[in-house]
Amino acid sequence: MRMIFLGPPGAGKGTQAVKLASKYGIAHISTGDMLRYHVKNGTDLGEKAKAYMDSGRLVPDDLIIEMVKERLEEEDAKRGFILDGFPRTVNQAEALEKLLKSKDITLDAVVLFDVDEETLVRRLSGRRICPNCNAIYNVHNSDYPEDGRCKRCGNGLIQRDDDRPEVVRRRLKVYEEETAPLLDYYRNKGSLISVDASSESDAVLYAIVSLCGGKDDSN
Ligand code: AP5
Repeated sequence: MRMIFLGPPGAGKGTQAVKLASKYGIAHISTGDMLRYHVKNGTDLGEKAKAYMDSGRLVPDDLIIEMVKERLEEEDAKRGFILDGFPRTVNQAEALEKLLKSKDITLDAVVLFDVDEETLVRRLSGRRICPNCNAIYNVHNSDYPEDGRCKRCGNGLIQRDDDRPEVVRRRLKVYEEETAPLLDYYRNKGSLISVDASSESDAVLYAIVSLCGGKDDSN
């Protein structure tokens, strides 16, 4: 299974990618998580990326493309992958297409997470993440841990720096201007599948699995 998850900030791409990657035993490749790791660890890439991320702009294509190329070489990605948050520009999509072609790999689906803006803003303002294991939570959801600690590893949950309202507005604008053109790019190739991602999480998972040709037997 090789998929791309496409959609605006807060649409639920990361939440579903974790579940599906575990269900199918494939790699979850989140460029956002990878960049946050680099920032946290003060690498060269992290230092270059930080100002872009903090202001809600996209990190330059050449840095991202190189990072993804290396990640796709890793062993777990050979079984399959979900690209979460990549590609985000037509330039990135073309680079990915060239790379996959050189490896004789085809994509199974490009899944568009369709959510209205009001829901996105609510989800982003309530999101908390575990800085240790990247688990995603939301203060508005019933399974939010009362003690504010990660259920998986016990670490204290935090709000992402780029989930502040002024940065969220910028990220939504950047999505419309730079990433939304990818919808036509993949639609023209016949690989775009749209999912109503505004419903509750298990329903979204079921919709993705059904539309991608499988049967959700995870329960
Ligand atoms: P990145 O981390 O990729 O952010 P994003 O695309 O803006 O996506 P989000 O992580 O905000 O949202 P999501 O769709 O994954 O939603 P989630 O599952 O968390 O990128 C961050 C930055 O890195 C970018 O701004 C850019 O600077 C840089 N970057 C990354 N990739 C790049 C690239 N390719 N090129 C250039 N720059 C790049 O869910 C959101 C919340 O909603 C959570 O709290 C969750 O619990 C909740 N939720 C999810 N689903 C549901 C549901 N069905 N019902 C109720 N609540 C739900």
